[in-house]
Amino acid sequence: MIVTTTELFKHAYGKYAIGAYNINNLEQAVGLFRGNLGKVKKNDEPVNENLAAPFILQISRGARSYTDKRFLEAIIRAAEEVFPEAIFAVHLDHGTEEVCYDAIDSGFYSSVMIDASHEPFEKNVEITKRVVDYAHKKGVVVEAELGQLGGVEEDVAGSVCLTDPAQAAEFVRLTGCDSLAVAIGTSHGAYKFTGKQGVRLDRLAEIQKALPPGYPLVMHGASSVPKEWVDRINAAGGKLAQTSGVNEADYLKAAKLGVCKINIDTDGRLVWCAIYRESFRDKPEDFDPRTPGKVFMAAYAEYIIHKNQVLGSAGQL
Ligand code: G3H
Ligand code: 13P
Ligand code: NA
Ligand code: ZN
Repeated sequence: MIVTTTELFKHAYGKYAIGAYNINNLEQAVGLFRGNLGKVKKNDEPVNENLAAPFILQISRGARSYTDKRFLEAIIRAAEEVFPEAIFAVHLDHGTEEVCYDAIDSGFYSSVMIDASHEPFEKNVEITKRVVDYAHKKGVVVEAELGQLGGVEEDVAGSVCLTDPAQAAEFVRLTGCDSLAVAIGTSHGAYKFTGKQGVRLDRLAEIQKALPPGYPLVMHGASSVPKEWVDRINAAGGKLAQTSGVNEADYLKAAKLGVCKINIDTDGRLVWCAIYRESFRDKPEDFDPRTPGKVFMAAYAEYIIHKNQVLGSAGQL
């Protein structure tokens, strides 16, 4: 059943975080649904129903235009039928104003993100407020963003791009957005931290304090970039630099400080890349797309179960 993120956040606030996972294709969708239902076997036997989790399925603009957005929508509709126990939100990731309206009008998305965080504060408020007013009329909830997620360089340069707590409170008051993505030291992609940096839980605590009680926050750029998967990719011919991501132990700490949604895309890509590389390395005579596909769907389901365990969402369905 498709629900809004607001419904999921009410249950999670202060206790655990909901995993928000990006998908682009069929195999990612099937692995994601199986994992969130605690099912990892091919026959969809539940391995442990106590692992089932509510989740957020995220679709980026890139995912919508990879083929035709209707293919992705049809895959998700089919998954809803195949997995009737699933409770999830369908969320537009990093939308522009125009794409937000398109997603809202489709009647398919229960939640959209308007990302005008690159604009000056006043303009971000103006755009976000327009999207919120439009979305709320149609029962869709809105995530907005304030602050700049860093790259490694920005981290080194200092904390100038982190979300300002007082500004965050003002932004939420002026826009009426339902949740807020905050910049607390993370960045998108596989290369997040070079040294001892990590999630700025100190800043997160200040932001939580400045906002109304129970207000849901969102952490982007939250992949943990597991060394195990990077090493498997490289052992199978990949050339990824050694890197580090978010410490998984910080997920629950962030959840206790009001983060209800934790965005994970890169980790799923790493699992995908490792499995496909290994499959064709180990069976060089094989060219059947289903060979790596089957292995990937099972591995991704298992990875999602692990992720939900560290997020605290496993067993919350
Ligand atoms: O924030 C970006 C997400 O990881 C989606 O990435 O725009 O390449 O689909 P994408
Ligand atoms: P990662 O690149 O850390 O997976 O972050 C994904 C994200 O924030 C999607 O919006
Ligand atoms: Na930003
Ligand atoms: Zn993001």
